[in-house]
Amino acid sequence: MSAHIPTLHTARLTIRPFALADATNVQRLAGAAEVAATTLNLPHPYLDGMAETWIAGHEERAEQGIGLTWAIVRRDDAVLLGAISLGLHARHPRGGLGYWLGVTYWNQGYTTEAAYRVVTYGFAERGLYRIEAGCFPRNRGSSRVMEKIGMRYEGTLRGYLRKGETMEDVAMYAVLRSEFPIQAG
Ligand SMILES: CC(C)(COP(=O)(O)OP(=O)(O)OC[C@H]1O[C@@H](n2cnc3c(N)ncnc32)[C@H](O)[C@@H]1OP(=O)(O)O)[C@@H](O)C(=O)NCCC(=O)NCCS
Repeated sequence: MSAHIPTLHTARLTIRPFALADATNVQRLAGAAEVAATTLNLPHPYLDGMAETWIAGHEERAEQGIGLTWAIVRRDDAVLLGAISLGLHARHPRGGLGYWLGVTYWNQGYTTEAAYRVVTYGFAERGLYRIEAGCFPRNRGSSRVMEKIGMRYEGTLRGYLRKGETMEDVAMYAVLRSEFPIQAG
């Protein structure tokens, strides 16, 4: 339960606040090299205690309007699949989407399903005008998620993020509320 992070549902998923009890699974899933390779800001290696600290900060970040972070959980068996977040801007009605999924759950449409629901929430319930997301140009899985939820490619920010020893480009995608078909329910 969280006062500031609502639980959302889709056909196959529960999108709920993280609990400290998820920490071991977060460390295992987010700690995988394949996940770290394309995330924009996950620590690697993912050390003991990092998941607990990360989860413990979610409520305050939500309360302060900085952003919301959810666990993506499969409805059938309550297995934690990954995480999704919606960053909020202090002055402008603009959100930033981010996500990662455990490797064994990739390519089954789960992130697209979760992202669509979170974007719907952002437009319908948080009054956002624009929701954006960025990924490394080599991350075709992530750019496909963005395209599938109706985001449009807007351009590439060159040398935008440090990843290890390398400065990497970030491809930007976004969708405006007026372009997004919000479905009831
Ligand atoms: C990116 C990520 C979240 C995608 O999650 P997912 O649940 O597998 O995504 P979905 O199944 O909803 O959609 C993936 C789409 O990408 C496609 N795809 C995956 N890898 C691809 C590749 N190498 N080339 C082209 N398309 C690819 C899939 O075929 C699918 O598209 P389709 O439905 O048109 O076939 C997941 O791979 C991940 O966690 N990666 C590591 C962390 C990360 O990169 N996070 C995002 C940072 S911006």
